[in-house]
Amino acid sequence: MDSTPSTLPTADASGPYFVDFRHVWLAYNEALLAEGKFAVEDISLQLRRGEFVAIVGPSGCGKSTFMKLATGLKKPSRGEIFVAGQPVTGPLKISGMAFQASSLLPWRTTLANVLLPLEIVEPFRSQFKAKKREFEDRARTLLASVGLAGYEDKFPWQLSGGMQQRASICRALIHEPQLLLLDEPFGALDAFTREELWCTLRDLQAAKQFNVILVTHDLRESVFLADTVYVMSKSPGRLLHQRRIELARPRDLEVTYTPEFTDIVHELRGHIGAMRQPAINSNSSSSSSSSTSTNKAAA
Ligand SMILES: Nc1ncnc2c1ncn2[C@@H]1O[C@H](COP(=O)(O)OP(=O)(O)OP(=O)(O)O)[C@@H](O)[C@H]1O
Ligand SMILES: [Mg+2]
Repeated sequence: MDSTPSTLPTADASGPYFVDFRHVWLAYNEALLAEGKFAVEDISLQLRRGEFVAIVGPSGCGKSTFMKLATGLKKPSRGEIFVAGQPVTGPLKISGMAFQASSLLPWRTTLANVLLPLEIVEPFRSQFKAKKREFEDRARTLLASVGLAGYEDKFPWQLSGGMQQRASICRALIHEPQLLLLDEPFGALDAFTREELWCTLRDLQAAKQFNVILVTHDLRESVFLADTVYVMSKSPGRLLHQRRIELARPRDLEVTYTPEFTDIVHELRGHIGAMRQPAINSNSSSSSSSSTSTNKAAA
């Protein structure tokens, strides 16, 4: 249960990994730390450039906590995080985020919502007035690539839920981040819209090759989109299982009906089911440490 300190110097962090979590633990405050109550425990996870990773796990296990750590919104209580070879010490500019609720500003048009990060994040902020036309063209191109041409001047309340999520993904990508963090981005959508958006995300990522960390409850979604799926244990979150998804790319929705695909989904469901079992059989069990915890890191 100790947090093995990394012996690698900072300079080595630029190695082959774009995101590198090394034995990361987080307690949300000093009191919880003193009690040894961690939201996530001993997380080691590495992403290579361009890799698409999905994290699945039961509600409350620490998935959003992991995202807060990845973007620098929270600092680890123990362990280290490197992104693009640099230690993460504060909020990251090279990341974009989208959540379950689109959180578009209702008083801004779709175009103005997508432009928002460029008005806030440097170096775009200081160039915004001079380059406004160029930035607008970029936003229009991005919106068109997700099927929202013609909706630039509509307000969020004039868009469907799926359209709002498309716009919110465009907003997360407008400053061309190297790392896209998606926390249940399609959770509130119907199954058909969700599958359409899987394809939208697949195509954007294939075209621009950014890294993605996707948090989802949907195992099919994780297998369809990701190169690697990590299963997190129930709280306190540990990475219990790592599964490479070797399905050939580009992946079409048809692949989701193949035995190969459903076998992987079943396998992942087995891991989630195994950790849910004690809670179903006995409500008294609150211990979270599974004896099968392996916390496998990427090879
Ligand atoms: N700001 C906070 N202060 C204290 N504890 C927190 C805070 N935010 C989250 N937690 C706790 O950390 C644990 C992990 O929460 P987290 O939001 O990361 O779970 P999650 O896996 O994203 O859940 P869900 O699937 O429901 O979104 C939970 O026990 C939660 O109560
Ligand atoms: Mg969450």
